[in-house]
Amino acid sequence: MSTVLKIQDLTKIYTDQAVKQTVLENVNLEIDEREFLCVLGPSGCGKTTLLRCIAGFEEYSGKILVDGEERKTPGTDRIMVFQDFNQLFPWKTVEKNIQYPFVIKGIRNKAELHEISSEALKKVKLEKYAKYYPFQLSGGMKQRVAIAKALALKPKIILMDEPFAALDAMTRRDLQNELLKIADEESSTFIFITHNIQEAIILGKRIIVLTKGGEAVCDKRNTMERPVTPASEGYGALWQELRDALYIHP
Ligand SMILES: Nc1ncnc2c1ncn2[C@@H]1O[C@H](COP(=O)(O)OP(=O)(O)OP(=O)(O)O)[C@@H](O)[C@H]1O
Ligand SMILES: [Mg+2]
Repeated sequence: MSTVLKIQDLTKIYTDQAVKQTVLENVNLEIDEREFLCVLGPSGCGKTTLLRCIAGFEEYSGKILVDGEERKTPGTDRIMVFQDFNQLFPWKTVEKNIQYPFVIKGIRNKAELHEISSEALKKVKLEKYAKYYPFQLSGGMKQRVAIAKALALKPKIILMDEPFAALDAMTRRDLQNELLKIADEESSTFIFITHNIQEAIILGKRIIVLTKGGEAVCDKRNTMERPVTPASEGYGALWQELRDALYIHP
């Protein structure tokens, strides 16, 4: 396995407040190609900040390398999916939302744009909703579109910041299952933030627990056979270990 993302001595200090705040301090992390990494950590420990640095939305000291090359600004090799249901342009249809980054890149051929959006929508089972506007979709459907929009760009790394946190339990389970299938079929690497230990165990092939300052206090491989359920062998022990790591370092 080769390393797709290397984070070296990443330090992020927010200075846009009266008091300077060091949120991430000398974070070092390596992530393999096609990894599905779940990140757990207490509120405010810097998870979103870490993703925003990787996405190129923040200034920081240290290095972030994708395939060995330094990245400091946003690019279509790293795409973020947010928790917020309102991450789509409300005035554009589902297909136009997905096509938009390609239009910006200069693609104007309607057939080509249609092919891009319909292929992406198929992956999230929303082919029939191409002409809908975001306000005509449920929260779960909006998150599916956001995932399709990310997949269409075929990024090296998909950065997901609690994308299912605001969904009801059943929709959440459906989306987790779909995401697992998608991750199996795509060549992207996934970094998925969650507050939910069960979600981390169901999705993550690797799970880390971050503490304040962005230190990884726990870094586990999850080799449980898929699909993982609470009845899977080893589930209870891993859940306990992750919970302890979260509890010891609140
Ligand atoms: N733009 C900003 N300016 C100043 N401080 C910020 C900014 N964004 C985040 N912070 C601070 O950085 C710290 C980490 O925030 P961050 O959003 O990364 O945490 P988190 O781990 O994602 O939390 P949660 O689990 O609640 O989403 C917090 O103390 C927050 O106040
Ligand atoms: Mg956050």
